[in-house]
Amino acid sequence: MHEQSVKVTIVGAGSVGVTTAYALLLSGLASEIVLLDIDQARAEGEAIDLSHAAHYAHAKVRVASSYADCAGSTIVIITAGVNQKPGQTRLDLVKTNYALFRTVVPEVARNAPDTILLVATNPVDVLTHAAFELSGFPVQRVIGSGTAMDTTRFRHELGKHYGVNPRNVHAVIIGEHGDSQIPVWSLASIAGMRLRDYCSQKGIAYDDAAMTEVARRTRGAAYEIIQRKGKTNYGVASVLVSIVEPIVKNSDAIVTVSRVGIYEGVGPVALSMPCKLNYRGAHQDVPLLLDAAEREGVKKSAQSILDVIVSAKG
Ligand code: 2OP
Repeated sequence: MHEQSVKVTIVGAGSVGVTTAYALLLSGLASEIVLLDIDQARAEGEAIDLSHAAHYAHAKVRVASSYADCAGSTIVIITAGVNQKPGQTRLDLVKTNYALFRTVVPEVARNAPDTILLVATNPVDVLTHAAFELSGFPVQRVIGSGTAMDTTRFRHELGKHYGVNPRNVHAVIIGEHGDSQIPVWSLASIAGMRLRDYCSQKGIAYDDAAMTEVARRTRGAAYEIIQRKGKTNYGVASVLVSIVEPIVKNSDAIVTVSRVGIYEGVGPVALSMPCKLNYRGAHQDVPLLLDAAEREGVKKSAQSILDVIVSAKG
């Protein structure tokens, strides 16, 4: 099925939803893209506009008239919800978006019982956990975009600092897609060399202060963007497509995404670790060798997400 017809439904035709639809359309990965939004007129307008772009990309784009239109989706991407205002953290959104998920997820799960849920709404880890519970799906079929976004930003910042293409930087951010995220410095490498080795081979100093700044810029990127344009959309849309790709191509690519599990003894809770992605979903069979401080960071991150889940449910 993943090789022939690929239907992707996007719940939420706001800025992230439609930018994702557009990126997905141009990627050629989906044969059908369905937009579902409570504001039917807006979704229709977007779908008509996108269908004109689809002329060049050979995919069908249409609007859903009800949740029944999710049926047969390979993936349902959930982007619906309120987004961060300047100064807000992702966790500030929790009550409103949790309540929304109580309506959306059971409807999607009933109409598309075999689909893979891909959650983008923030706070994404808390809502990935909510989607897991509300859908009754197995863990591997409920994926949050998580720190795939932060990992991209981290590689971008490191690439900029060292003057190399970010694709040649291997480095991940794990944990919360938010303030308690953990940069995995112990495994960061360029062209197969750990950062310190890369520096010594190049005859340059490993600059601790610059690396702290790289981590700060990575963690603060969304705040910086939201301060200026009120939202983020292009980065996250591209990241969502990069998660859709290995699923529909069944390619076993490793991407840092959020998934429910037990982390450093804390859980069940959703947070990001590198996962293998294929048509059955996200599989945590890439055990990272972390140092003690990183493991402690994961534990703290898991605990802080868990605390929010408890308060969101209350
Ligand atoms: C982002 O990191 C706001 O979570 C969104 O772009």
